[in-house]
Amino acid sequence: MNDLDAPLDSTGLRLRETREYLGFSEGEQPKDLRMDPLVDDLRRLAPGISVGGGAFAHWLPPPADVSPDDRHGALRQAIRSATGKCLTDLLTEAGLPAVEPGHLASGSRDWPAGHVGSVSHKGTRVVAALAPTSDVRALGIDIETLDHVEGLSEIDGLGAADELPPGYEAVGPGILFSVKETVYKALNPLTGREFGFDGVTVSWVRVHSTEMRGTARADGVAVDIRCSIALPSWVASVALVSA
Ligand SMILES: CC(C)(COP(=O)(O)OP(=O)(O)OC[C@H]1O[C@@H](n2cnc3c(N)ncnc32)[C@H](O)[C@@H]1OP(=O)(O)O)[C@@H](O)C(=O)NCCC(=O)NCCS
Repeated sequence: MNDLDAPLDSTGLRLRETREYLGFSEGEQPKDLRMDPLVDDLRRLAPGISVGGGAFAHWLPPPADVSPDDRHGALRQAIRSATGKCLTDLLTEAGLPAVEPGHLASGSRDWPAGHVGSVSHKGTRVVAALAPTSDVRALGIDIETLDHVEGLSEIDGLGAADELPPGYEAVGPGILFSVKETVYKALNPLTGREFGFDGVTVSWVRVHSTEMRGTARADGVAVDIRCSIALPSWVASVALVSA
């Protein structure tokens, strides 16, 4: 078993058993993110988009060093720092100032002028994507685990049966959840409008092995959706509206 796949504890933390705790404190230069195949997966799905990120489990203290009450805070802190590092690395690679974009009231990031972007984190992985508005009008990305998809079927309006990718009904709810989240992340900053899962319709045009492509519609806008389940127990999704 991969150490990052250790079961969640009762507070929902994924703290891995590790002897290589590097640690960091407020103001200290964060450690590097570790390469993660989810980043390659997203790059494959959207070749023209800048994608960065990685894993940060090694930034967390060993569970024995943190009281159960403090674990949630330790994970929140690691997520914040890792996301900041992911974003400044991505901006640097794009030739932009390495200043972490702040949050808008909607929760979205305030991307540098002339750019759209998106962030997702799950467990101890973080990913972010960035594109110039000359190429892309709207962009959303998402990473999710497919471990507990049964519970997702109970979400009101998650999707009609014919929205599930054919042949992938078992993990279909996880795929729909992820894809519709990307559509929200792409369109909410573009239109300023909020909508739920039942406000998005999905149709697949190509379902091939571990990768699928299709079109989603929400708020009268057509969105190009791409999804990969190449990594066991994970789904990575991208939503794009081209310029
Ligand atoms: C925004 C939302 C989709 C985030 O999804 P999530 O799976 O919970 O979390 P993720 O880790 O994948 O994404 C979190 C990132 O979403 C981004 N985000 C938050 N609100 C956003 C918005 N309104 N527009 C675009 N991106 C947004 C943020 O960058 C955040 O990361 P950060 O705070 O570190 O920068 C979700 O929290 C939400 O607000 N949902 C309400 C709307 C909804 O779910 N509709 C049904 C889907 S159609």
